[in-house]
Amino acid sequence: MEQIQEQQQLTMPRIGDPAPAFEAATSRGNISLKDYKGKWVVLFSHPSDFTPVCTTEFVAFQEIYPELKQLNTELLGLSVDSVSSHIAWIRSIEENFDTSIEFPVIADLDRNVAMKYGMIMPGESQVETSRAVFVIDDKQTIRSIIYYPLTTGRNMQEILRLVKALQATDEHGVSTPANWQEGEKVVVSPPKSQEEAAKRAEEENIEYIDWYISKKEI
Ligand code: BEZ
Repeated sequence: MEQIQEQQQLTMPRIGDPAPAFEAATSRGNISLKDYKGKWVVLFSHPSDFTPVCTTEFVAFQEIYPELKQLNTELLGLSVDSVSSHIAWIRSIEENFDTSIEFPVIADLDRNVAMKYGMIMPGESQVETSRAVFVIDDKQTIRSIIYYPLTTGRNMQEILRLVKALQATDEHGVSTPANWQEGEKVVVSPPKSQEEAAKRAEEENIEYIDWYISKKEI
């Protein structure tokens, strides 16, 4: 346990870090993270195949996959199960839920990727990956990390919203307010000097609230 925790601390990536490189076997053949350069990636782990919450998540991830693809974003699942287990579970999901899982699922039997990304929470489970989500941008930088416990299924609309918000930030140099949804006003970057602050009120096409908070359409 102590050894796992030590290794975990050493390898936990942070927002802004380069996404740790990996090659892996998946339900759709071998992949290498570097092949995804130029695309955004949502890399998520689930505790294990053939479990109920994970099954509901897989159906829900598949539902958002077409919209993610429209956002130049690929989806990659992961657990410490084998390729054969992934194939059998995917077939069962297809039979029971009439849903064909089209994204690759990494078979991380040796925990190589799970350890690089800090997906195992030894205090929660030493044998399963927790529900981690890494949003990796087109330059392969980690832009966001979400963790959910084993017992709570994730909210797919929040994952979509997060990707859209990060891409809006890159495209327009803005931030997004609480509960922001696509099409709503964004937050203008705060002024960097007293001079800029003094001029902010006169700027056109912004909703000025105070010198440090203004919104605009994008
Ligand atoms: C589930 O997916 O249902 C699950 C997996 C591991 C622990 C608890 C729940």
